[in-house]
Amino acid sequence: MAVDTTTIHPLDPASVDELAAAVAAIRATDELSERAFFAFGQRVEPSRDELAAHTPGAPFDRMVSVVGHDPEAGKSFEVTVSSSTGDVSTFTWVDEGQAPICDADVIAVYMALAEHNEWNAALAKRGIDDTSLVHIEPWMAGVQPPEMPTGRVMRAFAFLHRDPDDNYYAYPIEGLIALVNVDTGDVVVDDHGVVPIPDTPAEYASDRVPDQRDDIKPLDITQPEGPSFVVDDHTITWQNWHLRISVHPVEGLVLHDVRYRDGDRDRPILHRAALSDMVVPYGDASPLHYWKHALDAGETSLGQSANSLTLGCDCLGEIYYFDAAFLGSDGVPIVRENTVCLHEEDFGILWKHTNPFRPDLAPEVRRSRRLVVSTIHTIGNYEYGFYWYFYLDGTIQLEMKLTGIIGVSVAADGVGSDTSPLVAPSISSPIHQHMFCFRLDVAVDGPANTVVETNVEVVDDGAHPYGAGFRSVATPLRTEQAAMRNIDPAASRSWRITNPSSTNQLGNPVAYKLLPQASPTFMVPENSPAGQRGGFARHNLWVTPYEAGEQYASAGAFSMLHPGGAGLPSYVQADRSVDDTEIVVWHTFGVTHVPRPEDWPVMPVEYTGFTLMPYGFFEQNPSLDVPPSAACHAGH
Ligand code: NI
Repeated sequence: MAVDTTTIHPLDPASVDELAAAVAAIRATDELSERAFFAFGQRVEPSRDELAAHTPGAPFDRMVSVVGHDPEAGKSFEVTVSSSTGDVSTFTWVDEGQAPICDADVIAVYMALAEHNEWNAALAKRGIDDTSLVHIEPWMAGVQPPEMPTGRVMRAFAFLHRDPDDNYYAYPIEGLIALVNVDTGDVVVDDHGVVPIPDTPAEYASDRVPDQRDDIKPLDITQPEGPSFVVDDHTITWQNWHLRISVHPVEGLVLHDVRYRDGDRDRPILHRAALSDMVVPYGDASPLHYWKHALDAGETSLGQSANSLTLGCDCLGEIYYFDAAFLGSDGVPIVRENTVCLHEEDFGILWKHTNPFRPDLAPEVRRSRRLVVSTIHTIGNYEYGFYWYFYLDGTIQLEMKLTGIIGVSVAADGVGSDTSPLVAPSISSPIHQHMFCFRLDVAVDGPANTVVETNVEVVDDGAHPYGAGFRSVATPLRTEQAAMRNIDPAASRSWRITNPSSTNQLGNPVAYKLLPQASPTFMVPENSPAGQRGGFARHNLWVTPYEAGEQYASAGAFSMLHPGGAGLPSYVQADRSVDDTEIVVWHTFGVTHVPRPEDWPVMPVEYTGFTLMPYGFFEQNPSLDVPPSAACHAGH
């Protein structure tokens, strides 16, 4: 099937037909065995130059990339297929790292363990004869385990259902873990000894939590005239904002071409923005946890785990949903409906002033509202929500919502430890980190930008009669090595993304300020498996020159079983100039999660993120033209 590229945009996601045609072309090469499976497929994203050269309605070269694994070959593969001609363009067997975990791996682990004598004997030793009540949780192994030095290896551990629909995480089968080679079906059982399985239920489903509240009154959002945004295919316009969205199978929600209409000027801010990868190291030495450091984007193709969202549950109000096409591990593409939610939210006040000396004048107050573009992803026991917010005053915000079920161990002695505190009488949960690295392909008022760090210092020069003196010190970060920086809330540290060739009326370069939140850095040794594979989390800020192939902070789509060292730490080795040129800003942030009883049995949402706010980008408050709300007038 050849795609008519005159009718699509180069950033349009691959369609179901396009993915199916690519898989058919790959199968026709006879390179793959019957056992080969597919991790994901997507259109190859055009570079900045290719996008700039594109004329709407003109034909262009369109490629689809498909990644998968062939157990017969014991290797993963990446194939590019031309959507324009239907021909396979490149076929590459990957030497380092493997395709992300997918359904085929999960099934392979279940099959390998189902009839495995040693595994079943270990369960029997724990009094478990009915294996239908055992829930097996396959995990990425991290680095190649020494006990199984080759092959596509998963680790698996298990929980025991007390009834088939309960929350099995309340009943961990402690001390029992299996290594499974998906390529060969080989299993190594690692039994650290019988620990009694807890028997205290921890339910969260509404039909299992008695005494549900009955005093919550309806809270309805109505927009009788409809929402203020306009959607055209994959582009969104709202209140001077323009952007395009897509869903990448690894990175998840991607923003493209974010611009702000400022009078008669269309001003670019972000060329592209998305999660690049994330790493979740666990800090407990127990056999169930010490090896865990999930690279949830690269290892599990987080984008493909996007939920199908439900009105009134996940989102409230006047919603527009975008669907997304994904490739199944069997090579059959599917459309998942309602994966991206678009809506507006009231957000309190935007600005206000009451003139206290003139009670005859009405207060001036404006309501803030924001445009919300969001997805929610489920990865095993855990949920990640991605929320991009656009505000009336030119601010952009990214908020991560962390929820779901925490990783647990049995605290047989009922005490727990300082690395794995108790969350329930016999359940402990290891301290861990969630470190997110967002790749911000910036274009503030044009392609060439420079990042400038600002720190606020005390001025102690005797010139300030009462002693209070503050100055903001700006330091341009001109090379990759100089731009490896960490947050410093005590110095009000932030980073301005400036455009040296675009100045405001004050003669200063226009800028957007990256305002970090209080965030840890990575707490694992640099030479550890997590330190090598998640090295991007060692700094909160990195800046690299734009290079089309440098998409991932990690080994990206081939992070699985990759030894590490790839991505950001390798990009910056050349210490290239990042001064007044096309740059990419990488921001790593997150939380160190010390689990608490209130996180059990399901965790209330925890938040982290960052803000991009205009800094001299506009000549003054750009939201003066927001009128008072109708209700405000009516109230007088
Ligand atoms: Ni957590």
